[in-house]
Parts: sequence; structure tokens; C-alpha cells
Amino acid sequence: MKIDIITLQPALLESPFNHSMIQRAKDKGFVTINIINLRDYAINAHGQVDDYQYGGGAGMVMMCEPLANAIEDLKKERNYDEIIYTSPDGELLNQSISNTLSLYENIILLCGHYKGIDERIRQLYVTKEISIGNYVLTGGELAAAVITDSIVRLIPGVLGNEESALTDSFQDDLLAPPVYTRPAEFKGLKVPDVLLSGNFKLIEEWRMNQAEEKTKERRPEM
Ligand code: ADE
Repeated sequence: MKIDIITLQPALLESPFNHSMIQRAKDKGFVTINIINLRDYAINAHGQVDDYQYGGGAGMVMMCEPLANAIEDLKKERNYDEIIYTSPDGELLNQSISNTLSLYENIILLCGHYKGIDERIRQLYVTKEISIGNYVLTGGELAAAVITDSIVRLIPGVLGNEESALTDSFQDDLLAPPVYTRPAEFKGLKVPDVLLSGNFKLIEEWRMNQAEEKTKERRPEM
């Protein structure tokens, strides 16, 4: 899979993809993450990529030309399954969206800034808008990092043990059950006996039961 991220703040995306599972996924060739600095497509030597909004009002708008040129350059190289704009107006990210995106070959993540992008870029190029929650971030970069993280771990083959993605919270519309490791007792709190029983059928039942209880209690709408 190839993920191209268009951003005005490339430095914000330097670290998130250089650790842990995403680094391993890159090393093994499951994903290529390419950061495109929108400033390279500025309309003049001042590095201009934004301008005042027509009709007045506070806040700058990201201009059509730099965005269109950046996207057109990428489209010359490959076909995209989705061109995604990260925006608080978008569809709320959930596990089902991440599952779908993880099966694609090529996507663009376009990070908004300031007041956002000129509406015509949405009309001409953007095929999907995703929000990572009902709050406003300074820019779309952290949202792009969240979206990328949530999909890269689902790319078939990335996780050593396929099971562990299948038993994630949300994967079957249930929150994950509690987990424990050594020691068997900590500050007077014991690991539930069933987990030490070696009876895998009982353990599975207990986990399913805990997952259902937790989901009912915390996220009844699921
Ligand atoms: N940009 C600003 N806020 C955002 C959000 N909540 N989700 C995605 N992109 C954003």
C-alpha cells in the first residue's frame, strides 16, 4: 500500500511513522508513506499557499493551485482509491472505515490548515472526508497520523499474529476484555482464577462475557 500525505507541516509527521509497528510495516515493504510538502507547490517565491477568503472573515484559506498541482503530480504516478481530506466536517473515523482503507492500494491524505481548503478542491479531487473526533485540531496532520496508524496495522500480513487484529476492540463491535500478565498478584489484586486454569474453552467464555459486559456498560450504543 502507498500512502501519500500532503501537508504544510511535514515536521509534524516525521516521528509518528518511524517507530514500532509502522516502522516494521515499512521495513517489510507492506507500506510506503510519502510526505509531500505543499510549500514545494507555492504560487510564488514567498512560499504562498494560502490567501484571504472571498467575502471577508478571519482566517486564511488554502489556495487551489498548490493543492491541485500537488495532487495532479501524484496522479501522474498512480491511480488512487481515495483522496481523503482530514477535516472536522468529515465522516467520523471508525474501525469499519479503517478496515476498508487498509485493503486499498493507493490513497492520498490531504491535511487541512487554517480555515481549510478552497471548496473547489473538495469538488474536483477529494473523494472522502474523515474526522477523527468532534473537536477541532490545529491542522490535519495529527488526524492523518491517526488514520495512517489505524489502517497500517490492518494491512494483511503486518501483524505477526493475525489474531491480534481480529481480537482488537471494535473489530466485532465489542470492546476488548481485560488482559493481565505476571505477577499473578499485585498490591493484593489477583488475576482472575479462570485465566490461570489452562481451560481454554472457559477462558474464551470468560473473555466474551467480559467483553459484552464492558461494552454494555461503557458503550451501550455499540
Ligand atoms: N482537522 C482539524 N480538526 C480535525 C478533526 N477533528 N479530524 C480530522 N481533521 C481535523
